[in-house]
Amino acid sequence: MKTSSKRRAIRSAAAPAVTQFPGSFPLIKRGHATYWPDLLDDHDSIASLDENLMDKFIIRGGNPLVGTIRVSGAKNAALPAMAASILTEEPVILENIPDVRDIRTERSLLQSMGAEVELAYGGDVHRTSLCCRNLSNPEAAYDLVKTMRASTLVLGPLIARTGRARVSLPGGCAIGARPIDLHIKGLERLGAKITQEHGYIEASAERLHGGQITFDKITVTGTEDLMMAAALADGETVMENCAREPEVSDLASLLNKMGAHITGAGTSTIKIRGVKKLGGAHHRIIPDRIEAGTFIIAASLTGGDLTVADCDPSHLGALFNKLQECGVAFSFNADSVSITNGHTLKAADISTEEYPGFPTDMQAQYMALATQAEGSTVVTENIFENRFMHAQELVRMGANIRVEGRRAVVRGRTPLSAAAVQCSDLRASASLVIAALVAEGETVLDRVYHIDRGYERIEEKLRAVGAQIERIGELFPKKSPSPVGVA
Ligand code: EPU
Repeated sequence: MKTSSKRRAIRSAAAPAVTQFPGSFPLIKRGHATYWPDLLDDHDSIASLDENLMDKFIIRGGNPLVGTIRVSGAKNAALPAMAASILTEEPVILENIPDVRDIRTERSLLQSMGAEVELAYGGDVHRTSLCCRNLSNPEAAYDLVKTMRASTLVLGPLIARTGRARVSLPGGCAIGARPIDLHIKGLERLGAKITQEHGYIEASAERLHGGQITFDKITVTGTEDLMMAAALADGETVMENCAREPEVSDLASLLNKMGAHITGAGTSTIKIRGVKKLGGAHHRIIPDRIEAGTFIIAASLTGGDLTVADCDPSHLGALFNKLQECGVAFSFNADSVSITNGHTLKAADISTEEYPGFPTDMQAQYMALATQAEGSTVVTENIFENRFMHAQELVRMGANIRVEGRRAVVRGRTPLSAAAVQCSDLRASASLVIAALVAEGETVLDRVYHIDRGYERIEEKLRAVGAQIERIGELFPKKSPSPVGVA
């Protein structure tokens, strides 16, 4: 084996990927990753590998997606559901929790506070049981919050259950400033005393009381945070201008199973009658509408016949309306959608909005599609101020995109050609994967840890329906900076 390839690891569960790399070493399996043992020479333990990996995807474009691809549970429903376990001493058992990095971060966060966690993963089982009987440390430290903003979802439940919370302010983020002022304002309305010091929010309350909250702006996690806090407050809370996302309704449904009295979730007015105590519950998380939408767009672009299974098409109305305008043909069942291809794509403008509008979390993937549609597409991003990082990477692959503030104009169709590109955030990464599936040649996609935050083994799912995609792990890049080629 050449020195350069000694410095590399293949991360893949599929045998064909491994056999591309000749060698007689027994491979080491850890989780879903496979490592060449000689890579570990100068390191004590394989336990440190995950932190040091800078995985890449190698994607060869041109294959249609054919067959059935299954959707995992919704990350953005699972995160608040896990935070809701703080509200009770009893176990909360959650099914369909996706095996993604953000979920692992939240698990670590809850464990750092004293939560007992039990996992059951394998085949179709994706169960996480959480028991917050002893919450010894009601704090969300900067190290965890900085890697995942949704950590701030513990703020409301912690104050409601323990009367105090210390949560790091998240700071800025790749897609926008994303303040949490509306969470704070709402909690103050419910009687919490909140101060900010040394980058932390310190909150306390003897007991929260119900109140009237009107959000100045629609916020998804803000609605969820306050709904959880109000569930244990004295009296009734009425929240206006709430987020109507399916993930908010899913959380309300879990909280009601735990003994809360919440009505109106899924509409802009939510009423919560506080209770003294909440109990345990067993709940199945809804399917991930953004993962489903990502596969639907990938299928619309690559051709072939793909069924996206285990999803809820009723959560994807805005996307289907646009794809219909683009000329994509699809048919539904209750929990699946099939895309049949062969049509020329036509440009159709999008403008992101809160649910039920076109989701900001699908904007980047749709932009990849727009590069292959006949005509000009205007993409307007209304939710986050800096969510066009993928545009320049798509341009490097041959797209014609001009960004002007919150608008991007995509002129299609331009052939895409493979390039070395970088992921900047979760959905931008998904956009680049989709583009690479139709690009001519072999795209090297760097920093795929972004995609691992929210897509469960996307490369394995796509490979099973015909995509040529491999995960390559480059070990210890700081110690071994020499660039390596693809074996
Ligand atoms: N905002 C404020 N103040 C606040 C809260 C929000 O000004 O206190 C602003 C934000 O800066 C943004 C807008 O309100 O401009 C909407 O933000 P929102 O609070 O709704 O976003 P979020 O709750 O932080 C969730 C999802 C995001 C998704 C957005 C919008 C989770 C864990 N995250 O974020 O998901 O983009 O809603 O739909 O639910 C993703 O999965 O890739 C992702 C970023």
